[in-house]
Amino acid sequence: MQDKKPSDSVTVLTDLVLPGETNPLNNLFGGELLARIDRAASITARRHSRRICVTASVNHVAFNRAIPLGAVVTIEARVSRTFTSSMEIVSDVWTEDRETGIKNSVGQAIYTFVAVDDTGRPVEVPQVVPETEEDKKRFEAALRRKQLSLILAGKMKPADATELKALFAVE
Ligand SMILES: CC(C)(COP(=O)(O)OP(=O)(O)OC[C@H]1O[C@@H](n2cnc3c(N)ncnc32)[C@H](O)[C@@H]1OP(=O)(O)O)[C@@H](O)C(=O)NCCC(=O)NCCS
Repeated sequence: MQDKKPSDSVTVLTDLVLPGETNPLNNLFGGELLARIDRAASITARRHSRRICVTASVNHVAFNRAIPLGAVVTIEARVSRTFTSSMEIVSDVWTEDRETGIKNSVGQAIYTFVAVDDTGRPVEVPQVVPETEEDKKRFEAALRRKQLSLILAGKMKPADATELKALFAVE
């Protein structure tokens, strides 16, 4: 199976915040943003693997700034690391100033997708080769995030999470 680059599957989704998608403060409802991120990230996972992909876990979400009604929101979903059948996808979220067009980072989410066959069984995916410095940092950290996610899901013993434990090792 041939290796792929994050730029081969990157997905950029831009859309408006409309009435009906907001909370009582007239800011984008968190669940609406999560659904948009899930859509963008699942397209990236599908482009990378060329398979059916299912969301296995949401590893991290940060809503750093409220997104007001009428804002233009862009999500960029990029593969950060692949394992055997699973892929970690990092989605960066930003809005743009109406007058200047300047981008403001408003959040980030990290999801894990698994490629499956027609019966829902996990299948192997191509490996990803990081391109940018940021890709390389995210690639390095992804194994620790996978271990934490598996521990929280009760699928890994903390004692086996060697890379995650190393983060807390006292010099
Ligand atoms: C995701 C799913 C396919 C995993 O199936 P499974 O029987 O646990 O399969 P495995 O144990 O072989 O795990 C498959 C991969 O998923 C990874 N995985 C499973 N649970 C995970 C979790 N909580 N966090 C991170 N990775 C996880 C495993 O580490 C493995 O990765 P690898 O092959 O790259 O090493 C299965 O749980 C599923 O279909 N879940 C429902 C998905 C869905 O419907 N999502 C939409 C929600 S509405």
